[in-house]
Amino acid sequence: METDRNLYDTVDALMQEGKGILAADESDATAGKRLSIAGLLNTLENRRAFRELMLTAPALEDSISGVILFDSTIRDTTSMGLPFADLIAARGIIPGIKVDRGTVPVEKFQGETVTEGLDGLTARLKDYYDLGARFTKWRAAFTVVPKPSDEVILMNATMLARYAAMSQAAGLVPIVEPEVLYEGEHSLEEAQEVTEKVLAWTGDLLERYRVDLRGCILKTSMVLAGKSAEMSSPEDVADATMRTLHIAVPHSLGGVVFLSGGQEAKQATRNMQAIAKLGKEPWRISTSYSRALEEPMLKAWAGKEEHAEDAQNVLVHRARMNGLAQKGIYNESQDL
Ligand code: G3H
Repeated sequence: METDRNLYDTVDALMQEGKGILAADESDATAGKRLSIAGLLNTLENRRAFRELMLTAPALEDSISGVILFDSTIRDTTSMGLPFADLIAARGIIPGIKVDRGTVPVEKFQGETVTEGLDGLTARLKDYYDLGARFTKWRAAFTVVPKPSDEVILMNATMLARYAAMSQAAGLVPIVEPEVLYEGEHSLEEAQEVTEKVLAWTGDLLERYRVDLRGCILKTSMVLAGKSAEMSSPEDVADATMRTLHIAVPHSLGGVVFLSGGQEAKQATRNMQAIAKLGKEPWRISTSYSRALEEPMLKAWAGKEEHAEDAQNVLVHRARMNGLAQKGIYNESQDL
């Protein structure tokens, strides 16, 4: 087992200024949805080609500090036989791993879900450490409408905290992700109310389960009106998001990263920029986007070898734009 110092070093490396974490941890089923954007079938070969395209993109390490992988990817290799985790680490990027096993419905709580994956987790964590992972992720999901029940918030927050403590004991930095879903017609105020409650309970349970907050990163959704409602302005998103974090999130956390949640790629960059523009915060803040990084690349690729280089450039460009936004110096007129 590693000492706390190593957890702190990992947090420092992940939260480097101007860099974000690439969430490439879709399950094999969800990877199929991504591949369909490129017009490809969900086969093992195509999933490997998709991940290889991203992880061999030139200069990715200049704007990406860590990559979250899915179980089948951390056990897989590039077409040349190099394990993906080794490829990432050789580039100075930290390999991470999604360790939850997805959401399932909660009986008697219509429409609510709990995230599974604690059984056997200690052994899996050791395995992932040996495969090269240095951080982990666990995601719970909540709708804004209908409002989540106290019981299910508590259930998920407890699992997040238990997972985080187990992860730290295995020398792996936990990224605790209670996602409030963007889908829906809800208002920004409704999203704020649910996010505040979910984050407050998560922070409280992390403390009660004796998680070392400095060795832990929170991955949260931004606070914004639902995808089917009128789009919130970046200033409103920044204001509501940071007000919520200040009310609900312990200041001693190692870092806070935002998920993109289905926002359009530039919208996610603009919103990060508006948050950074608010100025110094008690936490180091950055992005951990999946769709907002991958989707533009997949469109450019269209599954064609002759577009591979362009697609990699699109990915690196988006990561760089998000890095500039993280520093508050993104200029949309220079964005493609
Ligand atoms: O769990 C979700 C991913 O880590 C973040 O994905 O940026 O597409 O919301 P997203």
